[in-house]
Amino acid sequence: MKDRYILAFETSCDETSVAVMKNETELLSNVIASQIESHKRFGGVVPEVASRHHVEVITACIEEALVQAGIDESDVTAVAVTYGPGLVGALLVGLAAAKSFAWAHSIPLIPVNHMAGHLMAAQSVKNLEFPLLALLVSGGHTELVYVSEAGDYKIVGETRDDAVGEAYDKVGRVMGLSYPAGREIDELAHQGEDIYNFPRAMIKEDNLEFSFSGLKSAFINLYHNAEQRGEMLDNKHLSASFQAAVLDILLAKTKKALEKYPVKTLVVAGGVAANQGLRERLARDIQDVEIVIPPLRLCGDNAGMIAYASVSEWNKENFADLSLNAKPSLAFDSMEL
Ligand code: KG4
Ligand code: ZN
Repeated sequence: MKDRYILAFETSCDETSVAVMKNETELLSNVIASQIESHKRFGGVVPEVASRHHVEVITACIEEALVQAGIDESDVTAVAVTYGPGLVGALLVGLAAAKSFAWAHSIPLIPVNHMAGHLMAAQSVKNLEFPLLALLVSGGHTELVYVSEAGDYKIVGETRDDAVGEAYDKVGRVMGLSYPAGREIDELAHQGEDIYNFPRAMIKEDNLEFSFSGLKSAFINLYHNAEQRGEMLDNKHLSASFQAAVLDILLAKTKKALEKYPVKTLVVAGGVAANQGLRERLARDIQDVEIVIPPLRLCGDNAGMIAYASVSEWNKENFADLSLNAKPSLAFDSMEL
């Protein structure tokens, strides 16, 4: 059979990324142009700035992805693209590029859900066995997902308010850290101790829901009250206490989900899956299931993960036509009880 090459696009937030995948498994290139430096001074992603950056670099990213893969434009057999969830203006840039490429070469266009991308990045570690459960933790999402087979994703639990990555970035801002703060808090946490005993919301409740806004408020109140007294709290202990609360919550709910949905594999993915503390706790606290976490380079936003998630869609011929539009609040269905 002729070799198949997928050209994948990801522009849902602040990374412009284009990847080439050969024959469903071989990631030949995964070019990621990060805009983080431009957003840092604003303390978060500015949507308008993000869209402009995507426009500026997308063509160069396509060229670079093809060069690194050692293939020609005409070798590409299908195009995959993130169409949601994400920032509408940012998504539209990737969609316009992907649609143009598919149209110019008369090849299929495969729409991909960004969160399916995060999850299926785990396929790079090993050939996943289904059914499986996934804990998806990113800047915009915190959800537990039951996957009966590749391409069939059902939410079994999610956050009621903030996403975990969002909470990291907000408390990081209060501590004066630069955006995004997740990685730095993780590093600081390893040098401090859990001395503040922050609340672990809903940890004992018998459901699979998360809540991080109370933890965030408790953190901010503690910080500001100390500031008013002229006291300077140590970022290391603050980080250790915050991270301990986050990890207790994530672990408790993941364990509950595994009790309710006994599976052999747990995937942990999304930007926050880069967290070393989380990796250590998972290894320590969860036995009896195989834990699969994508490598660090595939945890943050990238087009390689979109290529992985597009494979099952391609096999089902789940193609879109050129009317495909951005869906900023695209979400998996919830599991029916
Ligand atoms: O998945 P992602 O790259 O983008 C979204 O789709 O949201 O996730 C970005 C989030 C940010 O909130 C960032 O602070 C967080 O992932 N993050 C981390 C770590 N590395 C990145 N959070 C905790 N610990 C880390 N090591
Ligand atoms: Zn993401």
